[in-house]
Amino acid sequence: MNNLLFPVLSILSDGKFHSGEMIAKHFNVSRVSVWQAISEAEKLGIEIFSVRGKGYSLSHSVQFIDEKKIKQSIGEMASCFNIKVFDVIDSTNNFLMQEAPKGYPHASCVATNIQTNGKGRRGRQWQSSLGENLTFSFLWRFTKGAAALSGLSLAVGVSLIRSLKKVNMDQALLKWPNDILIKDDEVYKKLAGILIELQGDMDGQSAAIIGIGINLELSKNQITKIDQPAIGINQCVEEKINSNEFLGIIIKDLAEVLAKFESNGFEYFQDEWQSYDALQDQAVSLNLRDGENISGRAKGVNNSGALEVITEDDGIKTFSSGEVTIRKVE
Ligand code: BTN
Repeated sequence: MNNLLFPVLSILSDGKFHSGEMIAKHFNVSRVSVWQAISEAEKLGIEIFSVRGKGYSLSHSVQFIDEKKIKQSIGEMASCFNIKVFDVIDSTNNFLMQEAPKGYPHASCVATNIQTNGKGRRGRQWQSSLGENLTFSFLWRFTKGAAALSGLSLAVGVSLIRSLKKVNMDQALLKWPNDILIKDDEVYKKLAGILIELQGDMDGQSAAIIGIGINLELSKNQITKIDQPAIGINQCVEEKINSNEFLGIIIKDLAEVLAKFESNGFEYFQDEWQSYDALQDQAVSLNLRDGENISGRAKGVNNSGALEVITEDDGIKTFSSGEVTIRKVE
C-alpha cells in the first residue's frame, strides 16, 4: 500500500479542498507522489474530487477510526479489551477467522477504516466505504460448545439496539434473525447487519467471530450498490455521531450481553428482543435454504431464538434459519 495514502486522506478528512502543492509541501514530497496516493485512494473506491485551481477534496468529511479514541470512550474497562484498528483490510471477519485458532485474545475488537471485501450473510457481499460505515469484528471465546449458542446472533442484535438507544436512535428495530432496521417514509431500511462465524467443537469450547457493519452516512454512490433500502445513522439524528465514541459504547454493551448470554442463554433476552421486533404480527414470507417458501404471520421468537410463524393452515411452525420478507397483503 502507498505509504502516503492515509496521511493524505487525513489532510482531506475535513471534506475541504487542499491543493496538491500544499499537501506535497506538508509532507516534503513531490506533487507526483501526492497524485499517486490520490490514485491509490480512488482504486480503493474512495470518491475524491479534483478541481483545477482548488486541489483535491473528499466528497464528505471523515472521522477516522482510532484505537486511542475508542479506548477513551470505553474508559476504565479499556484494559479488558484488545483493540486493533486497520487502515485497510479485506474483511475483519476473515482476519479473526485466521487469527482466532492461533490464540488471538478473547474480547478482541478488530475495526477498519476501509474494508475491501466485506462478507454479508448468505454468501453476499457487504458494501462499505471510508467514513460511511462502522466496520468491525469482535472475538468472544465461550466455554460452551457451538451447540449451546443458539440465539447468539439475536442477543447481539439486542446489544446493538441498546447501544443505538444511547446515541438517541430509539427508533431502531430488529428483523429476525438480526438485521437492524429503521422505518423511514413507511419503508423499512437496513441500518446494520451482523454476521457470526463460529469455530471450535459443538460441545467443547468455541469462539464466535461477531462481524458488525453499521451504516453511518451513506453516499448516493454507495446506496446504488446496496441491493435493498438502506439508511445511515447520520441521516436519522440531528448531530452527527462520533464513531469512535459509539464504537466504545458498542464494545462495552457487547461484552455485558455476551457474558450474560454465556450464563443464561438467549432466554434471558427473549422479551427484550420481542419488544424491538419489526415483524411482530406482520404477514411474512420465509425463504428456506432448500428454496421452499413459507407464508404466514410472524409471531416473535421462542426461547432459543427460532422464529415462530402462524402458517395459512393455522399451525405454528418454528424456523431456526431462513430469509424473511414482509408481504404486502391486498
Ligand atoms: C449482513 O449480511 O447483514 C451481515 C453483514 C456483516 C458485515 C460485517 S462488516 C465487518 C465484518 N467483516 C465482514 O467481512 N463482515 C462483517
